[in-house]
Amino acid sequence: MELQEAIARRRMVRNYTQEPVDPAAVDRVIDAARCAPSAGFSQGQRFVVVTAPGTRSAIAELGGESHYVEQGFDRWMSLAPVHVVPCADERAYHERYQEPDKLGEDGELAWPVPYWHVDIGASLMALLLTVVEEGLAAGFFGVHRLDGLRELLGIPEGVHPIGVVTLGHPARDRRSGSLARGWRELDDVRYRERWSG
Ligand SMILES: Cc1cc2nc3c(=O)[nH]c(=O)nc-3n(C[C@H](O)[C@H](O)[C@H](O)COP(=O)(O)O)c2cc1C
Repeated sequence: MELQEAIARRRMVRNYTQEPVDPAAVDRVIDAARCAPSAGFSQGQRFVVVTAPGTRSAIAELGGESHYVEQGFDRWMSLAPVHVVPCADERAYHERYQEPDKLGEDGELAWPVPYWHVDIGASLMALLLTVVEEGLAAGFFGVHRLDGLRELLGIPEGVHPIGVVTLGHPARDRRSGSLARGWRELDDVRYRERWSG
């Protein structure tokens, strides 16, 4: 599949069939996410893959699935056959930036931007595009009770889960109301030479 086609076809899907997902396909998806860029090649991107129904239900509860159902969405969180929890391992960055080629005279980089969040975002996009290439579908939801997610999955301190990707074979779903906003035009987001307007 051509890249532009995968970009155009990617969308957040909020309903899945109960057809199992080939574990090898999940591995290919995670492998693509692994190959995203990272600051200093720190490679702090981590992924917790969850298929156990009880754990998926607990994650769905943390994600507020019942609120979605009240709004007419399907049980797209608990019924998605696979959850992937992308995590940013901040510790890997501090470790890497203590190495001689990264350590400045004033010590570790002052981190103008938390690069671990940048990198896991790049991984997320690689993951979502590979899902399309695999003929599968994915959605993303934020979890406000991150401590609950951390505890449930045994994620250590210093590692930041950024939310949950649901993954499965697509079923007819209800579209997000947010989409009514429509895409911003290129001219609304691209500035030439300087910020203007
Ligand atoms: C960081 C981030 C957080 C999101 N959180 C949620 C969420 O909590 N629940 C949800 O249903 N969709 C969530 N989405 C999906 C967006 O609503 C969706 O990407 C957006 O409406 C555009 O739709 P599309 O991805 O299908 O093109 C999130 C997306 C991103 C990138």
